[in-house]
Amino acid sequence: MQKNERVVQNITLLAIETSCDDTSASVIKNGEILSNVVSSQSVHIKYGGVVPELASRAHQKNIIPVVNHALQISKTQLKNIDAIAYTIGPGLLGSLLVGSSFAKGLAISLNKPLISVNHLEAHVLAPLIENRNLQFPYLCLLVSGGHTQIILVNSITDFEIIGKTIDDAAGEAFDKTAKIIGLPYPGGPLIDKYSQNGNHDAFKFAIGKVPGLDLSFSGFKTSVLYFIQKQSKKDATFVQNNLSDICSSIRKTIITYLMTKLSLAVKQTGINRVSIAGGVAANSLLRNEIIKKTETENWQVFIPKLEFCTDNAAMVAFAAYAKMKIEKFSPLDEAPFASFK
Ligand SMILES: Nc1ncnc2c1ncn2[C@@H]1O[C@H](COP(=O)(O)OP(=O)(O)OP(=O)(O)O)[C@@H](O)[C@H]1O
Ligand SMILES: [Mg+2]
Repeated sequence: MQKNERVVQNITLLAIETSCDDTSASVIKNGEILSNVVSSQSVHIKYGGVVPELASRAHQKNIIPVVNHALQISKTQLKNIDAIAYTIGPGLLGSLLVGSSFAKGLAISLNKPLISVNHLEAHVLAPLIENRNLQFPYLCLLVSGGHTQIILVNSITDFEIIGKTIDDAAGEAFDKTAKIIGLPYPGGPLIDKYSQNGNHDAFKFAIGKVPGLDLSFSGFKTSVLYFIQKQSKKDATFVQNNLSDICSSIRKTIITYLMTKLSLAVKQTGINRVSIAGGVAANSLLRNEIIKKTETENWQVFIPKLEFCTDNAAMVAFAAYAKMKIEKFSPLDEAPFASFK
């Protein structure tokens, strides 16, 4: 327990997450996740990326059924909710407004306290949901659609970014290279899927040579683009005929790069408790490579289960529950916008 941490008993909390294109609600009781409903918006697929205006409209449509479903699964009635949590940012403003307005409306009508949660803090604390014995400080490789950071997590409220991308995020690198080879958005999970039977050494791609713990993915994206353009000029069926090898080579390049930086962070900090978080933490190669480190380098590794990697309200509920223990409540007039430190 943290210093000044209050014992919070018999607390049932409802959390709402609408930062991007997933509408999600979760009920947590005394720190245990009772439900985690995620409704992903398929409306964006044909545009090859998230369209902000369509995302907020879909949240408006989804939020009541998603919250009702989360209450139903957890066998909880609205009158038994003790606090409401919501994602304050970062994210798309229109999307955030739907979740924050809904949460505030509920808090007013139920006369219950409100807790705002930073989306990235929620990702970074997600490894704790199933690993309550994870001791601070620990390292977290946060790899999502919009961020790539190596974070020293000193406590539930103290985060130190010790490395970060200077351009694209790892998730973007997956999605943008997937687009180059004609895969729909989001391409990360598809690259992972098509990699399974591929040869990861088939093709070589350049990746950012940035000193220290910082990273860069824009050169990698260009390297894939030029290679595919060149090969496709010679043979129009090149991508089609080599899809698994291309995907496997892309995946291997990104994951090896992330692992090299993470290993350097362990060396520099001397901390061997290591976690991963964010959508790219669902990548099967990254999960395997980090688990290998428990044997080869004596790392203690903490990996969230898949449903807690991509956007979900359970991680928001968990972070809010932790904030509630130190009485970090939020005013009703807090604006839905937040950066990470
Ligand atoms: N198996 C996978 N392999 C690689 N990438 C994946 C996999 N599964 C999901 N992703 C990627 O994860 C990203 C989505 O993660 P997440 O939902 O955490 O991002 P976000 O919420 O949009 O961004 P942020 O959290 O930075 O605001 C997408 O880029 C997606 O392609
Ligand atoms: Mg996210």
